[in-house]
Amino acid sequence: MAVFSLVWYFVLSFLGLTVHHENSDANAFVSTRISLATEYPTVGEPLQIDCYVRGPSGVQVTWYKDDQTLNSNNHIKIMSNHTVFIAKAQVEDSGNYKCSAKYGNSQSSSSIYISLDNEYSDGPRRKDHVM
Ligand SMILES: *[C@@H]1O[C@H](CO)[C@@H](O)[C@H](O)[C@H]1NC(C)=O
Repeated sequence: MAVFSLVWYFVLSFLGLTVHHENSDANAFVSTRISLATEYPTVGEPLQIDCYVRGPSGVQVTWYKDDQTLNSNNHIKIMSNHTVFIAKAQVEDSGNYKCSAKYGNSQSSSSIYISLDNEYSDGPRRKDHVM
């Protein structure tokens, strides 16, 4: 991504266009931080991913899973405070979760890779008891 931005920057520079990264409105600054509330994501157990968003009221927050917009449905709940909650996680819930916040030209996103494996459906701690 950084490489792409750099290439794009040079393309724009070559074309004589100027790229502006600064914000004229200091209040428009947004930031995101992901915190995995579930210590050990486990199949059949609840999975909770928190996204702490800083920004002005009206900041637009979108969750993506594997680059597809994530919406609430009967399996996944996206709370009004931007937390993703899955009551019974499945193997298919594995993937890259990205929380993206946008306000005007200010944008921030954070992502986390969640891996759920059937192997651990008894809970990862059980492994400690195998002799
Ligand atoms: C959102 O609310 C839930 C339920 O009260 C809580 O567990 C979670 O930590 C909150 N998320 C954030 C980002 O504050």
